[in-house]
Amino acid sequence: MGAYQIQGGRPLCGVIPIHGAKNSMLPILAATLVTKGECVLHNCPCISDADAALSILQNLGCRTRREGQTLVVDTYSACGTEIPAVLMQKMRAAVIFLGALLARFGQARLSHPGGCCLGSRPIDLHLLGLRLMGAECEYEGEELACTVKKLRGATIALPFPSVGATENLLLAALACAGETILCNAAREPEIDDLIGFLTACGAEIDGVGTSVLRIHGGKRLHGAEYTVMPDRMEAATYLCAAAATRGELRLTGIVPEHLRAVTEALLRGGCEISQSMRELSLRCSDLCAVSPVRTAPYPAFPTDAQAPMMAAMATARGVSIFEETIFSDRFRHVPALVSMGAKITAAKRCAVVEGVPALHGATVTATDLRGGAAMVIAALAAEGESVITQTEHTERGYAELVQCLRACGARISITE
Ligand code: UD1
Repeated sequence: MGAYQIQGGRPLCGVIPIHGAKNSMLPILAATLVTKGECVLHNCPCISDADAALSILQNLGCRTRREGQTLVVDTYSACGTEIPAVLMQKMRAAVIFLGALLARFGQARLSHPGGCCLGSRPIDLHLLGLRLMGAECEYEGEELACTVKKLRGATIALPFPSVGATENLLLAALACAGETILCNAAREPEIDDLIGFLTACGAEIDGVGTSVLRIHGGKRLHGAEYTVMPDRMEAATYLCAAAATRGELRLTGIVPEHLRAVTEALLRGGCEISQSMRELSLRCSDLCAVSPVRTAPYPAFPTDAQAPMMAAMATARGVSIFEETIFSDRFRHVPALVSMGAKITAAKRCAVVEGVPALHGATVTATDLRGGAAMVIAALAAEGESVITQTEHTERGYAELVQCLRACGARISITE
């Protein structure tokens, strides 16, 4: 189990090139199974979740290799339909293999996926849609067994625009006879990216960027070369770190539009932000509270940026109120921030953050991916030394975190 040692109190200043998006790469890796051939995916970050997805593909009989930031997946020889629990446990996105396996083989057997503990994370909406397409999905003990002779097109209205359910149903719909209409689909940019990849493979999907997707099923999909979109959550994390440390950062290789809800909040907090087509610069000399910060589906403020923003607000002037509407237990980072001197009270889905003049170093334990990132941000801003343990959480989603921060003047090192 890894740990970071951080000497805080220095502004973060410099340039960070943003990596490819974890939340886009993982569903795209699952989607390669729906094609028969070789897929070449560029801009794939070296993070442990990528390794987990590759292990699943290999376990299913695919051939994979990494060449720097490029992953090559040959799904021609895929034959397996079961994913062992030990692989399912490694990440939440493992559940997207369900739709891919049903599309490719008409059957799948897997257990509940792992990933960050953020409260209950059911998959009832995924199953609702798959059943409407004709799949039989039954739990056998801890395992979910799904089978279908021939998937059929359906009209599916999701009660909530779940990102994971939208991805799973998109993949299954590719194998349906006829058209599937997915209403109230998620509109996150990662969905557009998945559709971009599938289109490159020969799929026909209308409605990209909207909440109604029409999937014309039954097309034979081939392999393709595709570049994964930039990681808006990695970018949001570094912006919050720059604000928290009153620094000056330039992020390159991003899509500024994807970050609009986060940059609008930081602008309201007094940060100076300028942007061009693929870059964004932030300068912060004084930070004031932003309230409310309410998480909701895209294009609203993303749940993944809630914890990093809270770490920044911990030393802002004034009181900010956070409302987490997506997950029921996503304030697990709060006790760690409090032990660093933050004044935060959280109850159920609301947290009140009273900005303090300074934080102090402490030894804390990362609770989850973004919560761990929030602790890193707080430690960078804090006076003195902090140690953050269980950094395997942050390694699941941030490529070269330590190198990127060091290049911008942070004193951070990895300890065992
Ligand atoms: C969510 C985020 C996504 C983020 C990811 C990782 C939203 C809308 N989604 O995606 O942006 O990148 O976490 O942190 O912000 N739900 C059900 N039944 C289901 C599926 C979901 O009740 O079958 C509920 C969940 O419990 C949760 C909400 O819907 O309360 C959002 O779920 P969903 O969008 O599916 O989550 P992720 O795909 O993990």
